[in-house]
Amino acid sequence: MTTRSRIIGCGSYLPANVVTNDDLAKRVDTSDEWIVARTGIRQRHIAAEGETTSDLAFEAAKKAMEHAGVTSEDIDLIIVATATPDNTFPATATKVQNRLGVKGFAFDVQAVCSGFIYALTTADMYIRNGQAKTALVIGAETFSRILDWEDRRTCVLFGDGAGAVVLQGVEGNGTMEDVGILANRLHSDGSKYELLYVDGGPSSTQTVGHLRMEGQEVFRHAVTNLAGVIREVLADTGLEPTDIDWLVPHQANQRILDSTARKFGISKDKVVVTVDRHANTSAASIPLALAEAVHDGRVQRGDIVVLEAMGGGFTWGASLVRW
Ligand code: UT7
Repeated sequence: MTTRSRIIGCGSYLPANVVTNDDLAKRVDTSDEWIVARTGIRQRHIAAEGETTSDLAFEAAKKAMEHAGVTSEDIDLIIVATATPDNTFPATATKVQNRLGVKGFAFDVQAVCSGFIYALTTADMYIRNGQAKTALVIGAETFSRILDWEDRRTCVLFGDGAGAVVLQGVEGNGTMEDVGILANRLHSDGSKYELLYVDGGPSSTQTVGHLRMEGQEVFRHAVTNLAGVIREVLADTGLEPTDIDWLVPHQANQRILDSTARKFGISKDKVVVTVDRHANTSAASIPLALAEAVHDGRVQRGDIVVLEAMGGGFTWGASLVRW
């Protein structure tokens, strides 16, 4: 017998304020046509003044717990993946913990757009080694707070939001027929710092800073790295691309999603897409997309679901789950 981590509930939260491409075209030299053609993005949600990452995370977590049918007493671990915490410290996860009335332990994981995969992998390890039985894994971001709203190359690409899953230990027999997380793979390459970073921080500038990105270079690496890491989780489980029922990618650019699906011969209707409505919500994008596909009935018990992401650092990773 072996312990597997199973996703038993999903939830999400998007701020009420929707900003369209045309709205942005009034602020910077851009157009709906350019943004849609180059990225697939049509709109994004932006947090209200005073609405923080922990507020978004809390709302998504409540919905995931309700969906899973668990209460605060059942949760013994909370991990929040975020690059836009409420404060430098303490962790946003401890704020969420306090509002939910959860005991146990809580901390943040920082791997930018790959944060949810890093957090899911970490929670999976705590569950498998017995330190936690039921975990909340949340991706939550307010990227609107770190964008340079004068820079058309970046400000049109991102949005705010949060998604959460409840992960619970279940007994499996150790084979690839088990339900739950069957494989995780993580990577990072610190030498690519200058291609995607924030030009501020407590220790360097004592400011929050703004996001800076060499878009074309990031795009090129994303396509290669994502294909590589998907191949790894397939090899780990002995599965083939044709076994994948749902690809739930980090939502950075429709062209990256299309290229990844094409590489593996995955048809477009098996790729969960939210980038058109949410834009890039960094660590929140995978759990937001997952919650949508689970709640509208696309993802069914027994399905093979591959989650993958790539982001600043660089960091990248994938998880393969039998639903
Ligand atoms: O989540 C983390 C991972 N992030 C990513 O995966 C992002 C990956 N990168 C991308 O998605 C794409 O590279 C972008 C969407 C960021 C940019 O698309 P691109 O096709 O690589 O465009 P580009 O940067 O090569 O720019 C093409 C042209 C440039 O003009 P010139 O130099 O050809 O005259 C840009 O100045 O488009 C111009 N441009 C814009 N025009 C209108 C750049 N941004 C805009 C804009 N509106 N918002």
